[in-house]
Amino acid sequence: NRTIYMDASKCFPTDLPSHAITGNNCCPPMQSSYKFKEFDFQDYGASSNFPLRVRKPCHLIDQEFIAKFERGIALMKALPRDDPRSFYQQSKVHCAYCNGAYHQQYPFENLKIDIHRSWFFFPFHRWYLYFFERILCDLLGDPTFAIPFWSWDNIDGMQIPSYFTYPNSSLYHKLRDNNHMPPSIVDIQFYGDEHLVSPQKQISINIASMYKNMVLASTKELFMGSPLRHGDKTHPGIGSVECAPHNTLHTWVGAADTPNREDMGTFYTAARDPTFFPHHSNIDRMWGIWKKLGQGRRDYSDDEDWLDSHFFFYDEKATLVRVKVRDCLDIKKLGYVYQDQDLDRPWLNFQP
Ligand code: C2O
Repeated sequence: NRTIYMDASKCFPTDLPSHAITGNNCCPPMQSSYKFKEFDFQDYGASSNFPLRVRKPCHLIDQEFIAKFERGIALMKALPRDDPRSFYQQSKVHCAYCNGAYHQQYPFENLKIDIHRSWFFFPFHRWYLYFFERILCDLLGDPTFAIPFWSWDNIDGMQIPSYFTYPNSSLYHKLRDNNHMPPSIVDIQFYGDEHLVSPQKQISINIASMYKNMVLASTKELFMGSPLRHGDKTHPGIGSVECAPHNTLHTWVGAADTPNREDMGTFYTAARDPTFFPHHSNIDRMWGIWKKLGQGRRDYSDDEDWLDSHFFFYDEKATLVRVKVRDCLDIKKLGYVYQDQDLDRPWLNFQP
């Protein structure tokens, strides 16, 4: 058994990229006694009379829903900065799992854990959004609230939803590329250089890219990324969707005039921008869609090293919880679904 067992009570200083614009330590606020509980479906309302949380497409939510989303993020931002549920601390959770704060255990303490560019990409972010969403529900007093998804794979969703761009909104964020604000069409193939093409052409580039990264990535290694086990070096191999649209749209949203396209374009700051969450809601949705694209598409569900891997998160009561990959495989069991039955997937039948 070569599962990576991590010890969240040992949190190391953050590795920052060169010319980072803010220095920060991404470790969570330390308690004097370090206690956590194991995740248990019973405690988190599975199979009870809790209603499902329905994640809807960003471009189809109504004013009332947008207002609720804004209010939830505003409430999170208003929590004290050392409250693990605060927007600030939540953004640091992401940073800690990307930028070297946690290391593998004996005898591999010199190997840093990064949940990107490996088979942890999908499960880690699923759990991360799960707790973020529960915190929002709790603050809003509405157990049905769900993070909408930014459906950049659908033609109507291929721009930043306008309600993220009003300076008075809690969804606004200053450090973004001004040239990429709506109605600019996202560039799923963005590697730092602008594709100076018509919107029509950009849409077809995006569709072709989605086809390649979803349909042609037919094996778990190609789609999910490579295994990362105890003793393995960080970043064994990136999955197709993690590369694009995930990385490319992070970069595309981040500000062009900062050293690392902060904030969305680099891990240590990405989750400070509220667009992070709808972006990842759609990434999470892609995992589910991919599995149903053809027989034989399986993730690593038969690999105990993956299934037993765990992460630590704070829940809506600010309790530290240890969660395993094996418990995030069924989203209904986690209490949410995607409302996307009527959403067109133009990339699905793309003819190269
Ligand atoms: Cu953990 Cu979108 O990155």
